[in-house]
Amino acid sequence: MKTIAITGVLGYSGRYIAQEALQRGWRVIGLTDSASRLPNPLEFELRPMPWSKGGETSLLSADVLVNTYWVRFSYNGRGHAAFSHRSAVENTLRLFAAAKEAGVQRIIHTSITHPDPTSPLPYFSGKARLEQALTGTGLPHSILRPAVLFGESPAESILINNMAWCLRHLPCVGTFGRGENYRLQPIHVRDFAQLAMDEAENAAQHCIVEAVGAETYTFRGLWKMLADSIGKHRPILPVPAWTGLLVARVLGALVGDVMLTRDEITGLCEDRLAVDGVSAPGKRSLLDWAAEHAADLGQCYASELQRRR
Ligand SMILES: NC(=O)c1ccc[n+]([C@@H]2O[C@H](COP(=O)([O-])OP(=O)(O)OC[C@H]3O[C@@H](n4cnc5c(N)ncnc54)[C@H](OP(=O)(O)O)[C@@H]3O)[C@@H](O)[C@H]2O)c1
Repeated sequence: MKTIAITGVLGYSGRYIAQEALQRGWRVIGLTDSASRLPNPLEFELRPMPWSKGGETSLLSADVLVNTYWVRFSYNGRGHAAFSHRSAVENTLRLFAAAKEAGVQRIIHTSITHPDPTSPLPYFSGKARLEQALTGTGLPHSILRPAVLFGESPAESILINNMAWCLRHLPCVGTFGRGENYRLQPIHVRDFAQLAMDEAENAAQHCIVEAVGAETYTFRGLWKMLADSIGKHRPILPVPAWTGLLVARVLGALVGDVMLTRDEITGLCEDRLAVDGVSAPGKRSLLDWAAEHAADLGQCYASELQRRR
């Protein structure tokens, strides 16, 4: 039986990848620093991340590594350990080095659509740096580039759920500018997990997969689709990005979260969350999923910071 090490098995996509791996007959080792904080209902064998105490040997006996580790934004607030894109890049470089040293034969790494070494946005430049570093290891690898994940439950689908939450709780919602010239291509987390395991079982030296979903929405179109799905129609007002950021900050303060960052708005408005000219590997429909979850979608706010407590 082959062994796969997966980061984030107690988190979001890593948990679904681990389930898919088990179904395909792999032995799963979960790499995590959250063993004392998060439940482990599927009783994965857990080991510390390679950069943490006791993690030096965590990758021993792993044939393949799947990496989902990353941080959504940099944060230095109260009640949390600080985290940043810079430290996420440094840690991931250590993860790659540890994999090479341990004799891992293949790495599947999660990136983002449109990584860009020249971007002032640390999310996109950090991901580009890691893609380059992974290629530099010389190890066979695949890079998955999702734009936005959704499924299985609304609570896990932070962006989509919280847009529905705004529709339910606010008198109007907004787009940054007209919201018609930048898009999103969300992929269902189970489609993403299947892709990750297809790539784990792929023998090619170097693959890049634009891991996007079947449907493409403009930002305005996404508001409309969600409003139709949950039956909460609100005026969709075009506002300057700074106004949208201000509202997101006020709402974030009220719910105790970072709802949306300036960089996330910029990346979205730069049309970085959609890819032209690829046959989308994600087959599950967001429209169908939103209809299926209409009763629950947006009823509760899904907090990124809460997930880290
Ligand atoms: N979710 C999306 O919509 C989306 C969209 C585009 C790209 N992606 C990419 O897909 C990958 C997986 O995303 P995901 O949403 O499934 O990730 P996630 O579960 O939120 O995070 C994956 C793992 O990264 C670590 N992590 C996350 N935030 C952290 C923090 N603030 N401080 C320290 N460690 C943290 C955690 O490891 P521990 O187990 O140690 O806690 C976590 O299990 C990421 O590389 C992301 O960039 C995701």
